[in-house]
Amino acid sequence: MGAWLDSSLDLEQRAAALVSALDATERTAVLLGDFTALTSRGVPAPHYIDSGTGLRGEVGATAFPAGVALAATFDPDLAEAYGRAVGEEARAAGYTVVLGPTLDLARDPRAGRIPEALGEDPYLSGLLGAAHVRGLQSTHLVAQLKHFVAYNGEDGRTGHGLGPARGDAVDVRVSDAILHEVYLRPFQAAVEAGAWSMMGSYNRVNGRYACESADLLAIPRELWGWGGFYCPDFLFAVRDDAAALAAGLDLPALGGAAGRTAAMVAAAPEGLAEAPITNVARALIGSGLVDDPPASPQQAVVSTPAHRALAERTAIAASVLLKNDAGALPFGPEVGSVAVIGPSGDDALFVVGGSAAVDPGAGRLVTPLAGLRAAAGGRRIEAAQGSLGDIGLPTVPAGVLGLPDGSGPGVLVEFTDEADTAWTEVLPRVDHAIDPSAPLARWPRRWTARLAPRVTGRHRFSLDLGGRAALQVDGRTLMVGFREAAQFMHGPPCPLQASLDLVAGTPVDLDLTWEPGPALVVPPLGLGPVLRLGWQEPDGLWEEAVALAGRSDAAVVLVNQASSEGMDRDSLDLPGDQDELVRRVAAANPRTVVVLNTPGAVGMPWLDEVAAVLQVWYPGERFGAALGAIVFGRAEPGGRLPLTFPRDRAHLPGGDHGPGTVAEALDYDRDGGIGYRAPGVREHGALFGFGHGLGYATTGCRVTAARVAGGAVELDLEVANAGDRDSVHVAQAFATTSGEAPELVAVRRIGVPAGATVGATLVVAASAFSRWDGAARRRLPVAGTHRLVVGTAADAPGEGVAVTIADGRVVSLRHG
Ligand code: BGC
Repeated sequence: MGAWLDSSLDLEQRAAALVSALDATERTAVLLGDFTALTSRGVPAPHYIDSGTGLRGEVGATAFPAGVALAATFDPDLAEAYGRAVGEEARAAGYTVVLGPTLDLARDPRAGRIPEALGEDPYLSGLLGAAHVRGLQSTHLVAQLKHFVAYNGEDGRTGHGLGPARGDAVDVRVSDAILHEVYLRPFQAAVEAGAWSMMGSYNRVNGRYACESADLLAIPRELWGWGGFYCPDFLFAVRDDAAALAAGLDLPALGGAAGRTAAMVAAAPEGLAEAPITNVARALIGSGLVDDPPASPQQAVVSTPAHRALAERTAIAASVLLKNDAGALPFGPEVGSVAVIGPSGDDALFVVGGSAAVDPGAGRLVTPLAGLRAAAGGRRIEAAQGSLGDIGLPTVPAGVLGLPDGSGPGVLVEFTDEADTAWTEVLPRVDHAIDPSAPLARWPRRWTARLAPRVTGRHRFSLDLGGRAALQVDGRTLMVGFREAAQFMHGPPCPLQASLDLVAGTPVDLDLTWEPGPALVVPPLGLGPVLRLGWQEPDGLWEEAVALAGRSDAAVVLVNQASSEGMDRDSLDLPGDQDELVRRVAAANPRTVVVLNTPGAVGMPWLDEVAAVLQVWYPGERFGAALGAIVFGRAEPGGRLPLTFPRDRAHLPGGDHGPGTVAEALDYDRDGGIGYRAPGVREHGALFGFGHGLGYATTGCRVTAARVAGGAVELDLEVANAGDRDSVHVAQAFATTSGEAPELVAVRRIGVPAGATVGATLVVAASAFSRWDGAARRRLPVAGTHRLVVGTAADAPGEGVAVTIADGRVVSLRHG
């Protein structure tokens, strides 16, 4: 038996034994992604599965609530259980390396992958990311953290261009201090929790690709003592394979060698081949995989009833009650009939799109309507569509499109080819897909047409898009945005959306420009440039919904917005006609509850007109069961906002980029803070602040004592529940170090029975008052007296203490 299989030896001995058992050819093979030399020695090979929020591509896996929903629970125990369940399913399906959790912070509120990750706050993301990793790796698999690092938006992430030589990816310019204070912290926490692998991101950081930057890749190893292995992201993350190898990128790709060659390995500096193999060996042994390999044959259905119950519990704990006037929720016996409006069946959104999507298979989804019906007791539940939600609409028919000069039917299309020759053709409609095998041969750049409405009223438009497009109607921009694909791998598609009032018989001029360059061309994954203009004419859906709301005791309006990898939202407006639908329903029924199923913040122009708003993120397959429990009061919505809902999109960073402007470089230093620490949010306040969320009872919290224990600050809390039902108080401690913006440093969920007062202790690590010190290359406690408060949201601070730090430690506390 090789010493690497001997569990009585320590990890370093075992890893070294495995490495020295491999000859030069075998080492090269491993570095090129061929793991036969490992498996032949009883070591399971890396076998990857995307599974930040459930297994992608394994039909029948549990569709858990999205990452941002998990973040909204503010609950590390739940995050650990969630990670463990994901790990158990990955094991059952025979995988060894789980690509997740995603730890990219929500900087730009439009960023398409916000729902995959854990919100805007470095502490909360780190706390929950670490717990997820602990749970996942307790199943003896490798967690691969995504995406190292400063990857916080989709536009430009992989550059631009249809050919193999895609242009450069966006370059994030960021100082050492901000990188360490903000973007690296969740990764550090998850590494300290034991994560064995990391995925290098697509973007550049300070001029170098993250996967080719020796300085960046060295940070976890040199500063955090990390011994795991790196992989690059899927496509385009590595542009110079030799540079990536030299920089310390351990493996070349998610399977296969990509551009790495044996000659590169041979030419690499002495010892370079050994370090990555040691890192891989250490991860495979250290995770427990070698001692406890996944069983084979693999299970066909990996979900279990316990996992689905966990998904439901998480969805309830993640739902954030943003507003609840006069106890509109839960519905009591006085509500005898409920109108359910919006996409409430299979057309509801359950999961995030892209590589984090999960497909639980037919028959398992609990739709919102089914869940509400099941929980309604004897109440009358009726549904009306109201809005189609965020979907691609039927193609605008040829019959309403005429040439711009009125000379006949059709759409005038300007084409270009590879040689830049331009010509025009007349086509019947706007519905175009480029042959992915010859993407550059010829492509349309501009469509112009006169559209003749057949009916008067609000029309919806959608653009299924791979590329960048802008649609002008009578000279006014109606839609603008980019998509790497019309549908990115799995999950919901994410078309551009808009709505517009039109008058029958009064034509409008359409001018649509398209540039296919942002589209990815990967035919096996169905990715390629596409453009299709869809519409929905006024069809009475609103009127039907309003009539139903008017004859019901209460209305639940489900509104949604899809989100995915490969796209950023174009604005924070709800897509299509949904804002108007909410307004109309609210006018018809004073007890209107809006269920927001969105990736994050949306503007709510109707906020003052509705009784309650519940944010459910993407709740996964138990959506309806969780919603039914909340709406009829069997369970309390337990979530708190892990990201700010700004009053205006401009109050958060990222506005210098998209949808109309594409920056080649982003300046993170100019942000002055992200999320609730952004200057715009601090100046103008938030619509709903980070940490906000109501329960079904009112709880209050006092700080009764404070002391220093083991270097940390301990705050004794007294939490009272004045209500008549059990509730949870989520205590949040914010530190103000040296007068800077307060930041979250501790959280605790405290259960409080009805009418009771309970005690709890909140522990704040001494590192709460630290700042990155460039010379010391670590965060150091900042001398001085700082403020520590315990509140219920970033903009709802409560009582606190003054904390004095000297000589690198807490020396005194002053309560009050
Ligand atoms: C995503 C990764 C994912 C990979 C493999 C990439 O496009 O950025 O998060 O793990 O695809 O699916």
